[in-house]
This record gives sequence, structure tokens and C-alpha cells, in this order.
Amino acid sequence: EASRKFIVGGNWKANGSPDSVKKLVKDLNDGDITAKDVEVVCAPPFVFLSEVQGSLRKDFAVAAQNLWDKDPGAWTGEIPAQMLADMGIKWVVLGHSERRENCGETSQIVAEKTKFAVDNGFSTLTCIGEKLDAREGGKTFEVLDEQLKPLADVLSEEDWEKVVLAYEPVWAIGTGKVATPEQAEETHAYIRKWLTDNVSEKVSDSVRIQYGGSVNDKNAADLGQQPNIDGFLVGGASLKGVTYGGAVRRA
Ligand code: G3P
Repeated sequence: EASRKFIVGGNWKANGSPDSVKKLVKDLNDGDITAKDVEVVCAPPFVFLSEVQGSLRKDFAVAAQNLWDKDPGAWTGEIPAQMLADMGIKWVVLGHSERRENCGETSQIVAEKTKFAVDNGFSTLTCIGEKLDAREGGKTFEVLDEQLKPLADVLSEEDWEKVVLAYEPVWAIGTGKVATPEQAEETHAYIRKWLTDNVSEKVSDSVRIQYGGSVNDKNAADLGQQPNIDGFLVGGASLKGVTYGGAVRRA
């Protein structure tokens, strides 16, 4: 646990205006968050990437919320990995449940994108997580197996060094219904065991697993105490600079 650096991502999703983004960056830059013990990654919408990349404090990283896993060319409306790499973006969020649900991203597609991103020098926040019916039907681990398997099939041991898994139970996203520390820890421990059994002990020990789903400055401390929770992927609260600061601090 000690060797896994805590990592907090702010997923701004499709929110923000030129003014609100400027303000958020200012709040983050002026905030008392120290990135010494915590890695911070902010994921603004594509249209603000360039501005945030240029204005955000340099000890925080900037992530795209998706990428196109093909070389640049005739792909109207898409944003190839290479273009993001050329502008100095080093992180990408992949497989968020909103993209799985609304954009048809299957676990296979998410795995291929993760592999392409890593091959192009990116680190990824690759998201997994079950929906409410799976949780209630006792199928959480089956869903996670299905989401993890294609990743394990395409990633080498070395590739895994660039991958952070974000466990986001869909029923906890944007609902205010945060998983309890026990629920989250049980699932994170399962994911880590899965990595031991299906990838390697080394990868299992080193891969960071973030929790995402209604994290805020009030619940972050208890969640962050859990041995297998290595960070957060924060949505709504990341849009409020101050709250975000709270979520960043490990208890
Ligand atoms: O990617 C972060 C996310 O899905 C969680 O959103 O608003 O519940 O923190 P939120």
C-alpha cells in the first residue's frame, strides 16, 4: 500500500464555460492542496484542454476524457491519441460508464483504447464498475470479471505500469449515494485479487485503484483510509475547487 501513491482525478465531464473554467483553474492554483503526497489529474472537456494545460499549476496533470485509437486522418469529429500527445497531454480517462452506456463502448473497445493509449505514451484512468441491478443481484464480481478480462488480454506487465483502474459503481455516480468504505474496500480487494490470479502478483501490488461515485470532502477521509483504495475519481465535487481540495487530502 505504502508504495502506491494516492491519486485523485477530477472528471469535469461535459461541464463548464470559458468563465467557470478560468475560475476553477484559479481556485485549484490558489488552493492549499499539496501534490507532494498525492498525484492530481484534472480532466476538462476537450474544448478547454489547451487552456487548462496552459494555465493549471504544473504539479497537476491534465487528462483528456477520451481519445480515438487510430492514427490521425479521415475521422471526422474524432480526436486521435497522437494529437493529444503532440500537445503534451499525458493522461486519458477511458471507459467511463457514461461512455459505455451512451456511446456503445464495450469492454473490448475500452481495452483496445487503453492499449493504444499506453502504446502512445499515455497513462490511463480506465473505469470499471457495475450497475445497480448487478449489485442488487449479487453479480458485481461477474461484471468486473467481464470488464477486466479484455484488459488483461491486451496489456503486458509493463503496460500495467501506466494504468490506473477507477472503480466506479454506476449506482453511486452523481447520485449522492456513495458506496460505504466497507463496500468499496471489499470490491477493491476483489479487483486486486483478480489481478493476482489473472495477471501477476507484481501488477496486483502496484496497480492503483481509485474509487469514484459521489466522493466529496465529507466522505473522502473514511474511504481513503481503506487499504485497497488508492485514490478517487471525483465528478461533481471536482467542479467546486474547495470541495475538490477536501477530496484530495488523505486522512
Ligand atoms: O468519473 C467520476 C464520476 O463518474 C463520479 O461522479 O459526480 O458522482 O462524483 P460524481
